[in-house]
Amino acid sequence: MLCTGVGGLLAWAWTSTSADSTVGEVAFERRLPVPPLAPSTVDGDGRRVFDLRASKGRHDFGGQTAETLGWNGDYLGPTLRATRGERVVVNVHNGLDEVTSAHWHGMHLPPTMDGGPHQPVEPGATWSPTWTVDQPAATLWYHPHPHGETADHVYRGLAGMFIVDDPGTDVAALPHEYGVDDVPVIVQDKAFDDGKLGSDTGMFGSGGVLGDKVVVNGALGPYLDVTTERVRLRLLNASNVRPYRFGFSDGRTFALVGTDGGLLDAPYETTGVTMVGGERAEIVVTMRPGERVVLRSTPASLDLDWFHKRISGANDSFDIMELRAAASLRPSPAVPTRLVDTPRLDPAQAKHTREWSFSGTSINGKKMDGSRVDAAVTKDSVEVWKLTARDGELHSFHVHDVQFQVLTVDGKAPPPHLRGWKDTVFLAQNKQVVIIARFADHADPTTPYMFHCHVLRHEDQGMMGQFVVIEPGQVPKLAPEHADHD
Ligand code: C2O
Ligand code: CU
Repeated sequence: MLCTGVGGLLAWAWTSTSADSTVGEVAFERRLPVPPLAPSTVDGDGRRVFDLRASKGRHDFGGQTAETLGWNGDYLGPTLRATRGERVVVNVHNGLDEVTSAHWHGMHLPPTMDGGPHQPVEPGATWSPTWTVDQPAATLWYHPHPHGETADHVYRGLAGMFIVDDPGTDVAALPHEYGVDDVPVIVQDKAFDDGKLGSDTGMFGSGGVLGDKVVVNGALGPYLDVTTERVRLRLLNASNVRPYRFGFSDGRTFALVGTDGGLLDAPYETTGVTMVGGERAEIVVTMRPGERVVLRSTPASLDLDWFHKRISGANDSFDIMELRAAASLRPSPAVPTRLVDTPRLDPAQAKHTREWSFSGTSINGKKMDGSRVDAAVTKDSVEVWKLTARDGELHSFHVHDVQFQVLTVDGKAPPPHLRGWKDTVFLAQNKQVVIIARFADHADPTTPYMFHCHVLRHEDQGMMGQFVVIEPGQVPKLAPEHADHD
């Protein structure tokens, strides 16, 4: 395994558990576990109610067992699923002996329901956020966000998927039978260390943990039995720091149909998709009867010195999961040429332009301060944010509450995989990424939303800022308790 040193120094060290590559060494001996769909009830007010309980567990990853955390189980959590327009309630019970939280990554919702560092859930307590789902069909996810402990809680297993359906989208156009031809693929790297996940073995230096094994939905070397001509994989990089470039062992093309916040206007045929921590991609893969093909990650071309020198090359390939097609496959609809029609946000309408510079574990030279507001955004206004990583370390940008559009990357039009709705984006060194977003509704001058690097250890160490959404003329005034959770 690899660790970064403390204090931002790149003091890398190999330990005895390091492996050059798992390509070709994976037996694919266990069926891919699919997180169950979370049961829900509808309460007297017509709200869809879910229950999540965080607790400790022991999880068998397949030949490796370790102490873990999970929602409603030993590791990861059930898939929450709701439809645009529905009002939801999630009863989040903390069965741990430490403070945690539940953040709805990618969800547009009021700041008091967001589950960030300002909504801690004390041990034994239950927090019940409620909101109306109001965004396009998308693959979102949830994970804890307690300040300083996010990397640890996610790494030990607290994460799950949240699928949003939209009655305005043609469901039948894409494979959509959950667990059959529409399958969550939650990818995480792990460093197994004597029945532990390495979380308390000094692995959370400035960059965080990089494991030498990759698990999918909590399983090492899984296979997926495919029974249909096409299968849709909802890829989620829920790793703390590791980026992946997903493709297939035979180099086949697949259709990228969705990114973080929804479907692309048109599918993009490609042989690989690069994803940093927190990003999602929905892909549709076409299979021939009886064949087997491996979902593989090859070194991501991230144009990033430290990553290539330290991790990439031969040391960064992983065989992740095998797809096994049945001898005869049920027909699937052809992938449509158009999926949705996304209105483009117009930079001419931007009310504000802000610049955020990422270096070390600071943004614009500042560490996260729970009592400081870094930006006050007027409700329903459009803003342009210019994002630049300066120091050659791996950084990304994630913002709560909104989905954004990428206007340019290094002055050029974004590549196809960055043309849809996004909430997380990789920042290559000194290549400015310009984004645009509309901060619709949910004005609240007292409760901030977060924006941060999604390298979770960077976030924990302070690479995070706060913004509030206010009515015109309002003045931000953080509620006093917020200063306690910085
Ligand atoms: Cu996925 Cu602020 O996080
Ligand atoms: Cu970072």
